[in-house]
Amino acid sequence: MADAASQRAKVAIFISGSGTNMAALLYASLLDDSAYEVVLVASNKADAGGLEIAAAEGVETFVHSHKGHSREAHDAAMEDALIESGAQYLVLAGYMRILSDEFVRRWEGRILNIHPSLLPKYKGLDTYARAIAAGDSHAGASVHVVTPELDAGEVLAQARVAIREGETPETLAGRVKFAEHQLYPRAVADYVSRGLNPDYLLGRVSELALALPETHSRESHGAPGFRVGSEKAGKFFAYFSDRHHGSEHIALLVKTSGMDEMLGLIEAQPDVYFKPAFYGASGWIGLILNRADVDWTHVEEWLMRSWRSVAPARITKLQDAADMF
Ligand code: GAR
Repeated sequence: MADAASQRAKVAIFISGSGTNMAALLYASLLDDSAYEVVLVASNKADAGGLEIAAAEGVETFVHSHKGHSREAHDAAMEDALIESGAQYLVLAGYMRILSDEFVRRWEGRILNIHPSLLPKYKGLDTYARAIAAGDSHAGASVHVVTPELDAGEVLAQARVAIREGETPETLAGRVKFAEHQLYPRAVADYVSRGLNPDYLLGRVSELALALPETHSRESHGAPGFRVGSEKAGKFFAYFSDRHHGSEHIALLVKTSGMDEMLGLIEAQPDVYFKPAFYGASGWIGLILNRADVDWTHVEEWLMRSWRSVAPARITKLQDAADMF
């Protein structure tokens, strides 16, 4: 197994301003056991304060002014630097440019942003003044996934900051920054390592398995399982295995057509498949989930196939009819 350092997720950070969140992210990444490393700090402003901090720590920096360029041309230059750095994730830390929809789609699910409000409240600008004017008891910051719609992607984590008597936007902003510096490194670390988190993986598997017709979950020998048919007479079509029976894998077990197919698949793609203890003997294959770049469409196809192989004809016929439309 590779050591922890070589498994760190590679993160690029885009900034426009003082870069204090970038600094918090960077120094957190230098602690032992950090889940990520910073491979690039890039800015649309040559005087962004964080560039020097990053350079002092030996992190590559890149500047490309947006002035005189179309959004697309500027984005393309920033994206080239991003790709060149080998980053797997892009973290926006006070990057005051809206990325083009195409850019965001190409990096779907891999861009995070921090926004100084308790989203969904106060998207956009002047968040502190708006929270004070509304008489809110708390302001705060949210880390969210970036989608083409501004400040609207899934909120991953929030920090709350009490609004005091006589608060001004400036005094509030100062304290929200402290909170941001605690929140962002943790939220980024959790996000980049969620592919190794059994709760996250089970959540995704459950969502796909239970979207199939007439399914329910049922534990089997201490592991979550998924069945098709009635509660009484249903049959298992998948199991979720969190390093069961001494295995190093978090995996989904599904049914193949038999031993020949199973062994063939494992030989061809040993990074994807393995033969699980006990279940392997009857043709169940393990699909490894705690690895980089799991193809969730592939997982879904296996669930569907396994479901079909045990579902009563009454249900698969209904599904065939539905598939025709
Ligand atoms: C942060 O407070 C961040 O929440 C905000 O810019 C500041 C950047 O500060 N971001 C936005 O308003 C995005 N819409 P920093 O440069 O010191 O990290």
